[in-house]
Amino acid sequence: MVELAVPDLELLQRRRSEKWSGYEPGVIAATVAEMDFELAEPIARVLHEAIDRSDLGYAYEVPKSLQDAFTGFAARRLDWQVDPGLLTLVPDVMIGLIELCRVLAPGGSVGFATAAYPPFLQQLRPAGFTIVEVPLREDGTFDLDRLAAQLRAGLQVLILASPHNPTGRVLPRSELEQIADLCAEHGAWVLADEIHAPLVLPGAKHVPWLEVSPAARPCGISLTSASKAFNLAGLKAALIVTASGRAQDVVRRLPFTAEQVGLLGVVAAEAAFSDGDAWLDAVIDQLDANRTLLGELLAKQLPDISWTPPEATYLAWLDCGRLGLGDQPHVALLEKGKVALGAGRDYDPGSSGFVRLNFGTSAGLVREMVTRMASVARGPGAA
Ligand SMILES: Cc1ncc(COP(=O)(O)O)c(C=O)c1O
Repeated sequence: MVELAVPDLELLQRRRSEKWSGYEPGVIAATVAEMDFELAEPIARVLHEAIDRSDLGYAYEVPKSLQDAFTGFAARRLDWQVDPGLLTLVPDVMIGLIELCRVLAPGGSVGFATAAYPPFLQQLRPAGFTIVEVPLREDGTFDLDRLAAQLRAGLQVLILASPHNPTGRVLPRSELEQIADLCAEHGAWVLADEIHAPLVLPGAKHVPWLEVSPAARPCGISLTSASKAFNLAGLKAALIVTASGRAQDVVRRLPFTAEQVGLLGVVAAEAAFSDGDAWLDAVIDQLDANRTLLGELLAKQLPDISWTPPEATYLAWLDCGRLGLGDQPHVALLEKGKVALGAGRDYDPGSSGFVRLNFGTSAGLVREMVTRMASVARGPGAA
């Protein structure tokens, strides 16, 4: 049994990563998708060993050890049979998505469900694409009718965050099958961003895109990484996975070589996928417990917040519209409560009353965040 450790706030604030940078002392950061847990021991070990070897040069191809580690992980944890010959290294998922779009639909149209991971909204347009938003339905499900209409209007590529960020929803097989049928029928590609798949919490099951149906495989490309589940985002090593010759032809046209990937990222991903199960199980238990705790605390202290607990990830998408904190609740919560949360409008201009809270941390910090948020919502002078 792995004991998960979370450093105290003072130590967390010494971290140099994006999540903990840029705030004054005492602020609890719950923004960027990084977790606060100390690194898994098998990963820390191989990283120390690489440094001891002064082994910080370029990465070289997809090593067989990484192929074995990932295919084993995919089979064991995701019921996903991956052909090791159809794995390609890319620096990160976002760059992989953008460059795949450039090959598939140069200057064309790229769609995704909104609310969305902010770089979809921020980076695809400057990269030359017309972005097509497919707003989620009120209940968080994918709007298949809107997707069908956009496909009829010429949508070329759908980026499908599965599980979804920021809602943390796990898309059921039936919904994925319908998306696959629609996209295949209209000759559109699906780029399945499955970076959060290893973080599915008890009660849900992720269906990898390339296992969805015979229709999904030839029109789909999956992108994944150890970065979210094992907290390695700064090490820059992600994987593209295909399951058809047609998709592999697309990947061959990407302008990458393995040299552009971080060697430490490759080394860490290998250790994560081959020896990280016990740590990941402990993380999932902790996230499941934090999800329950957050629900209890919100019900008691902030009943005006509405949310649907996520089925995956450590991200909670909270509707704060009824808190009386104006249309940018994250501003008051940071300024008065010293809790930094994701601003809803970054995920969807129409969702400015929302915040995204990252509960990938200790139960103590989850409690403290809700206490602080509740004191802001109760107004000045509240205890
Ligand atoms: C849905 C989704 N896709 C992609 C990314 C970014 O991945 P990468 O750092 O590999 O570009 C994130 C990061 O949080 C994410 O949530």
